[in-house]
Amino acid sequence: MTAQTPGAEFPGFATVRTRIDGFLDDFLTHKTHTADTQKMPGEVPRTLHDFLFAGGKRLRPLLCVAGWHAAGGHGNPAPTFQVAASLEMFHAFALIHDDVMDNSATRRGRPTVHRQLAARHQNGRSTATADHLGAGAAILIGDLALAWSDELLHTAGLTPKQLRAVLPLIDTMRTEVMYGQYLDLAAAGTLTDDVELALTIVRYKTAKYTVERPLHVGAALAGADAPVRAALSAFALPVGEAFQLRDDLLGVYGNPATTGKPCTDDLREGKHTALTALAFRRASQDQRKSLTGLFGDADLDEESCDRLRGILTATGARAAVEQMIQSRCEQAEQALARAPFPPAARHALHALARAATGRTA
Ligand code: IPE
Ligand code: IPE
Ligand code: MG
Ligand code: MG
Repeated sequence: MTAQTPGAEFPGFATVRTRIDGFLDDFLTHKTHTADTQKMPGEVPRTLHDFLFAGGKRLRPLLCVAGWHAAGGHGNPAPTFQVAASLEMFHAFALIHDDVMDNSATRRGRPTVHRQLAARHQNGRSTATADHLGAGAAILIGDLALAWSDELLHTAGLTPKQLRAVLPLIDTMRTEVMYGQYLDLAAAGTLTDDVELALTIVRYKTAKYTVERPLHVGAALAGADAPVRAALSAFALPVGEAFQLRDDLLGVYGNPATTGKPCTDDLREGKHTALTALAFRRASQDQRKSLTGLFGDADLDEESCDRLRGILTATGARAAVEQMIQSRCEQAEQALARAPFPPAARHALHALARAATGRTA
């Protein structure tokens, strides 16, 4: 199958979201019912359901479906929607564990899963014990989301040929994101000017798992050939990098009421990002001293966070990251213009790239 083969009409983002959410809702409602009737803890699938439906842009499943269309997908789209839903379930796993690792208090405008569980199981326990319980329980719920992403995948009714094409991509995607997350953790807490390392982290923890692999998975379901896969990568990697660079800016300068996430975590955790690496590189001696003194302090108050923001901006690092986002968007547009995709898929990818990189949430 090549992209020249007439494919199905792209159904529109709202329709795709509804289909994806339908799979997730049915799956978790069934898990909850089964748990309740077997006297198992139905609060586990219910918590995951609440997390999934508290928000989320559904970027990965939308890209998976767009990848299927880009590769000329046609015929019954239902298996593609279910695979796309399995990517969102995988994302839920990644976020729930990420919030434990990053010690984050809010996501999607609500307390993070580990915080919710700590509060729910507080009854008479000390705060430290409840926090420990919350983290452990969130790790388990994340584990289940990972296992259930697999279940959604292997019950999607894929043909043996589709499975042969998709499973190695899923294996690779999982390995890449875990390596990226590991690098992210290992690089935190020390302020250096290593922009290359920051970009490697961005590529692995986000660009591949958020944009490139979902597109590849969708395209593989449509039997994509190597040129289509390569064209998708040429578009996906700059978009994915720009997406995370935007996230890094929002993680420092964003409005928590809009992002649903705090804007102090990265500063308190001392996250190594292109923003902080560039700031360190460009800082004057005085600015370096202030940066080193404040960055990565877990007890940083709001006022000190504001001071840090001021220094990051004054070094020109914020503007430089905006520039990096801009140049990656242009690169992606050029790749899209050259790509052998049907016009409707090209249009969808263009819109998704804009939404992913110009977002405020
Ligand atoms: C957040 O991803 C984690 C990153 C990789 C930056 P999203 O920004 O896609 O989060 P949701 O799914 O919309 O909440
Ligand atoms: C999240 O990265 C990446 C994954 C979940 C794999 P971040 O830690 O930068 O994302 P947010 O800002 O918490 O969403
Ligand atoms: Mg995080
Ligand atoms: Mg993180």
